[in-house]
Amino acid sequence: MNIYLIGFMGSGKSSVGKELATSLGVSFIDTDSYIEEVTQKSIPAIFAEQGEDGFRSHESDALERLSTKEAVIATGGGIIEIPENKDIMTKNGIIVYLHTNFETISKRLQEDENRPLWNQDLDKRKALYERRLPLYRQFAHYVVETDDKEVETLIHELKEVIKSS
Ligand code: S3P
Repeated sequence: MNIYLIGFMGSGKSSVGKELATSLGVSFIDTDSYIEEVTQKSIPAIFAEQGEDGFRSHESDALERLSTKEAVIATGGGIIEIPENKDIMTKNGIIVYLHTNFETISKRLQEDENRPLWNQDLDKRKALYERRLPLYRQFAHYVVETDDKEVETLIHELKEVIKSS
């Protein structure tokens, strides 16, 4: 069974996911890094060459290929853009949404240049965030609030969620 972490860019899926995997003694996989390894291209390069649709299809392929693992899997913030991704993840594990406020995310990412969909004006970033909020909730089996919490607290909460699943 996999533990899939979903949430907007900058919600801590990778940093929290790594610690959670270590604490559970399972492997940690980040779908973005996996896609970069398989394609030998950076995420911005994939967006530039193949567009968002091209990237989304790499992302769904990655979920399929990683389905037989026993791992903590940090997904990209747009995993909820493709409804079928929910079925792939639900078949193979539990989906936990790390919810983070837009203000916290903005502080963390600032002018990050490795995320093509963050690299746009404030109104567009905000609209993307607002549009996606209900989608994360639709996908999630569990929701964990991350604002103002230490990593140790989050790990504790996540382990409780996993225990109860
Ligand atoms: C994306 C989020 C990124 C990455 C790509 C697209 C998105 O992952 O998959 O830039 O659509 O929100 P992170 O959520 O890890 O930043």
